[in-house]
Amino acid sequence: AVIRRVDYQPFGWLVPRLELDFQLGLTDTRVAATLHVERNPAATPTGQIRLNGEGLAPLEVTVDGQPTSLWRMAGDDLVLDLPGTAHTIGLVTRIDPAANTQLSGLYASGGMLCTQCEAEGFRRITFFPDRPDVLSIYSVRMSGDADAFPVLLSNGNLTARGDNGDGTHWAEWHDPWPKPSYLFALVAGRLVANRDTFTTRSGRKVDLAIYVREAGAGEEDDLPRTAHAMASLKRSMTWDEEQFGREYDLDTFNIVAVSDFNAGAMENKGLNVFNTKYVLADEETATDGDFDAVEGVIAHEYFHNWSGNRVTCRDWFQLSLKEGFTVLRDQLFSQDMGSAPVKRIEDVRVLRGAQFPEDSGPLAHPIRPDEYREISNFYTATVYNKGAEVIRMMRVMAGEERFRAGCDLYFDRHDGEAATCEDFVKAIEDGAGLDLNQFRLWYAQAGTPRVTVRLDHAGDVATLHLAQVVPPTPGQPDKRPMPIPLKVALFDRASGIHAGEQLVVLDRAQQSFSFPGFATRPVLSINRGFTAPVSIEHAAPVEDLVFLAARDDDPFARYEAMQELVVGHLKDVVDGKLSASERDAGRAAIAGALAAVIADPALDDLMRGELLILPSQTYIAEQMLIADPGTIHHERQALRGALARALEGEFVALHQRASAVPGGLNAAARGARKVKTQALVYLAEGNPDLAEQMAAAQYDAADTMTDRQGALMVLAGLKGPQRTHKLLDFYQRYRSNPLVVDKWFGLQAGSLHPHAIEHVKALATHPDFNLKNPNRVRSLYMVFAANPAAFHAEDGEGYRMLADLIIALDPVNPQTAARFVPPLGRWRRIEPRRAALMRAELERIAATPGLSRDTAEQVGRSLG
Ligand code: ARG
Ligand code: ZN
Repeated sequence: AVIRRVDYQPFGWLVPRLELDFQLGLTDTRVAATLHVERNPAATPTGQIRLNGEGLAPLEVTVDGQPTSLWRMAGDDLVLDLPGTAHTIGLVTRIDPAANTQLSGLYASGGMLCTQCEAEGFRRITFFPDRPDVLSIYSVRMSGDADAFPVLLSNGNLTARGDNGDGTHWAEWHDPWPKPSYLFALVAGRLVANRDTFTTRSGRKVDLAIYVREAGAGEEDDLPRTAHAMASLKRSMTWDEEQFGREYDLDTFNIVAVSDFNAGAMENKGLNVFNTKYVLADEETATDGDFDAVEGVIAHEYFHNWSGNRVTCRDWFQLSLKEGFTVLRDQLFSQDMGSAPVKRIEDVRVLRGAQFPEDSGPLAHPIRPDEYREISNFYTATVYNKGAEVIRMMRVMAGEERFRAGCDLYFDRHDGEAATCEDFVKAIEDGAGLDLNQFRLWYAQAGTPRVTVRLDHAGDVATLHLAQVVPPTPGQPDKRPMPIPLKVALFDRASGIHAGEQLVVLDRAQQSFSFPGFATRPVLSINRGFTAPVSIEHAAPVEDLVFLAARDDDPFARYEAMQELVVGHLKDVVDGKLSASERDAGRAAIAGALAAVIADPALDDLMRGELLILPSQTYIAEQMLIADPGTIHHERQALRGALARALEGEFVALHQRASAVPGGLNAAARGARKVKTQALVYLAEGNPDLAEQMAAAQYDAADTMTDRQGALMVLAGLKGPQRTHKLLDFYQRYRSNPLVVDKWFGLQAGSLHPHAIEHVKALATHPDFNLKNPNRVRSLYMVFAANPAAFHAEDGEGYRMLADLIIALDPVNPQTAARFVPPLGRWRRIEPRRAALMRAELERIAATPGLSRDTAEQVGRSLG
């Protein structure tokens, strides 16, 4: 059934208090729930209550303490007659956590028990109005075997614990903050903790703990690997106080790391549950990128305590209310913790690589969707990352101070409530003093706006002509113009400076802006800092791009000019527009710009590393109406090879210079590691023998995972003997560390090796491959689906392999299976031969009997 946003109705009952009593067992857990319900004065009166369930059968149903038969099953839900205005409902259910391979609800992972309830997992534990606008105060009691589950955790504060004297023990937890069921959590197991404390600015002392599974025989001790997460947590707590005035509100904050997890992490009140990937990090086993990801996700989940928990969502259509806002908050935090320009570039790269394709494909949806069948399918880059960009635009238009006033008003007004995106916009409007009337379209319209840019020059006036088109998307054929805030600067060509950055807001289909005072035609720098999530179409002359790539004082704009230079060139090459000599001239211009980047003493290496990264295959393909992945891949590699041959001496010198930088986690050392591997990536195309030798040496000398993985990534794409040697060495070194074994799978699945597709096939039968572990499945197949040469193999073998995976995974873990559908859904934008093969695979999946709602929805939308 399709669920529509416009059909929202408040629930007929309030559940101010809920008591849960768990008798824990890995294969048999008994749950007794006591719901204190009363009529919701804001809803239509009803004599029944409908409690959601999934795969549950009630063992006991009581009303006001008396067994009752006035209930029936309606599908998976339980409907109960309730004649009066206030009642106590008692329910008993039994579940088998070990059989829960979906990893939604209460499940077992490596001998421990844990929960994941967002979005609709709570209904797999007990019958309940499993919707985010029903807020309850939870009291949780659990008991279980003291040896198997020495640690017993839930939300809020521990209020009592004791021993039963029969080998079992118990604990009681109370969370004073009303919350929806999706924020409930329970964890039980043999866990060890890294403990610390944090004192909030008003003087509350908070006990912090990060729990990991106790190491079994032959397993590694993960506890020392939690230090970075703990430091990140404390930095997040301070930052939220300083930047958003938000303080923590319980005496305990617990984090538990779990190896089997569908998402990255979960913000359950006072008890965050994390994928191990976003908790564990040390230099030996985690890359610099992993360190940043841990810091970012720790911050994200912590920030949810206010943007998500204290103010939650009225219904799941409002998901971006908490996710978009929290992503923006974690982005701003990471900007402050490290290099702000580099972080901005990384975030834009993610947006373009993951969200732009959503917006231009069959799964396009507004950041506030209008309908869904399975909400799990809407935890997307659109809701998260574009959602963050939309709020960032409000911040740009309001300015930081007024934006903060708007946020304060939002938290003030809606604390303790289940709010809507509209509530947020209204609070920013009132608190920041902005008119966001037309801006609200950003919540309603899908599709990446295309802004066409022309700069005229006459007399001493430069005129900027802008036009916007919001493209049609499924279900939304006609669009209206939206306000698009663009920071612009006009550079004087001779002096290389500009008279100041200006914010122009394009809010009509076409608009022109005049800038007097230019005796000669200036160089335009537009969408500086990427103030708007749009694609800019500007036929800028190559010399202007070279100028900006070398001299723009906005680091993002400089990066953008470099990307434009390459994308423009590759588009022309792929379209067959260039003669051989024109192509060589284009390559020479890019080589010149790269040489300047390598030599520029004003750049730090982290930024230099960004400027060296070629635009991704996905981003290039996105610029074309119909893409030929084979040709794009071939031409992109050919360009890289030509650049590497032209600049071989420079890349070798860069690698040498960076290799001499002392190690550590400081910016200089991290920057050095980044450019080192970038240099190898180029050399691998220009001079593979030299690259093999240098990469093998980097691998052997590595004292960090960053250097070692970087070297191995390059070797994995080469044909020489070092490939096999080092892959074997890596596996033997790290085989007892699952997160590093994931890297080992990923490096091979993503490699440029011509036989990558055969390697993936072989790895699928490797004893360490495991369909039940989402990290492992993603490390092989997500990486493979993003490997253009392998996935888009001409005979369709890559598509077949991905479809086989989806069909095999769907009955095990539908949420994760459905996430593999979008790569096949790109078929409309791919050349016709491959498109037909992709479509055929989607049809084969669609014809599979018993398909989950998750996968069926994604396949259905993809076929259109
Ligand atoms: N709220 C979590 C986060 O963004 C993610 C939950 C994912 N749930 C899902 N069904 N995909 O921090
Ligand atoms: Zn989130």
